[in-house]
Amino acid sequence: MRCLSGIQPTGRPHWGNYFGAIRQYIRLQKDNQGFYFIADLHALTTVRDAATLRQNTLDSALDLLALGLDPRHATLFVQSAIPEVTELTWILMTGTPMGLLERCHAYKDKKAKGLSADAGLFAYPVLMAADILAYDSQLVPVGQDQVQHIEVTRDLAVAFNHHFGETFVIPKAQTLDVGAKVPGTDGVNKMSKSYDNTLPLFGDEKKIRKQIMRITTDSRPMEDAKDPTDDHLFQLYQLFADDEKVRQMRELYLRGGFGYGDVKKAVAEESEAYFAAARAKRIDLENHLDYVHQTLRDGATRAREVAAEVLSRCKSNCGLM
Ligand code: ADP
Ligand code: TRP
Repeated sequence: MRCLSGIQPTGRPHWGNYFGAIRQYIRLQKDNQGFYFIADLHALTTVRDAATLRQNTLDSALDLLALGLDPRHATLFVQSAIPEVTELTWILMTGTPMGLLERCHAYKDKKAKGLSADAGLFAYPVLMAADILAYDSQLVPVGQDQVQHIEVTRDLAVAFNHHFGETFVIPKAQTLDVGAKVPGTDGVNKMSKSYDNTLPLFGDEKKIRKQIMRITTDSRPMEDAKDPTDDHLFQLYQLFADDEKVRQMRELYLRGGFGYGDVKKAVAEESEAYFAAARAKRIDLENHLDYVHQTLRDGATRAREVAAEVLSRCKSNCGLM
């Protein structure tokens, strides 16, 4: 199966990004043909500083490699290194109904807040469709909030095939149920940069521990029994702990007589152990940047070969000489 996904280099990755998206790429890479890229063209709609975008892009490559993306199994590259994708974006744009894009949430949410949006944000889902279709992708592992964009991609591909004849492979989204919506530290919203309620994967452990200890909790007295099901702290613990530990924690909640501070400490310990190997690997990669750049170059070469073939098929079918 050909799998593809992209990650925007817009800031440091958080637990939501890992459990909602990155972990899936890494799990899929062994038994599938994986294409994974850093979506710097998408990021340009929000990151408007050249040095920051460049640094973020490199950081994202380091993050993915540290977390286990293996260039022997998967193709890792930077989106803007494949000009075929932007060319395909235009072709797809000519068959995209305005109404379809008006319903897409990135643009709609911004409009609803009374903010002005640019054409890049409006057309964002078409670029994403080109990303997916350019590599004949079959499966697209993403978090829940990206599913709408895969639906748009399918609509555009089906319409194009219908009009010009069989051209694109119709992709499917794959979301992971467990951890598909990681709660944020505010206990109200999903973890997201936009809500400023994130916990980072990498960085100073002491600082992260402090952030964990500051996770918002309700003020029920210690001796009360609590239902763990809807508790965001319990949900976070569940991401890291094994089944037996989760069972014990569930009992503790139901029995009562414990403080949230203890759960936070447990979350801190489990998460530190969980990410320890990735953190060590990232430090090693920072000292071998040549390897990282070479990996991205090799990935782009491979990705371009595939994209050029698909673009040529597409151009020929719609009458571009
Ligand atoms: P943010 O909301 O912090 O801006 P992005 O929109 O850049 O995050 O998301 C990158 C990827 O991580 C997407 O595939 C998205 O679905 C996934 N993701 C982000 N936040 C969460 C979350 N809280 N739970 C699950 N997946 C998430
Ligand atoms: N829009 C996605 C996000 O914000 C990133 C992305 C760009 C992507 N192109 C893609 C994801 C293609 C999957 C497939 O997370």
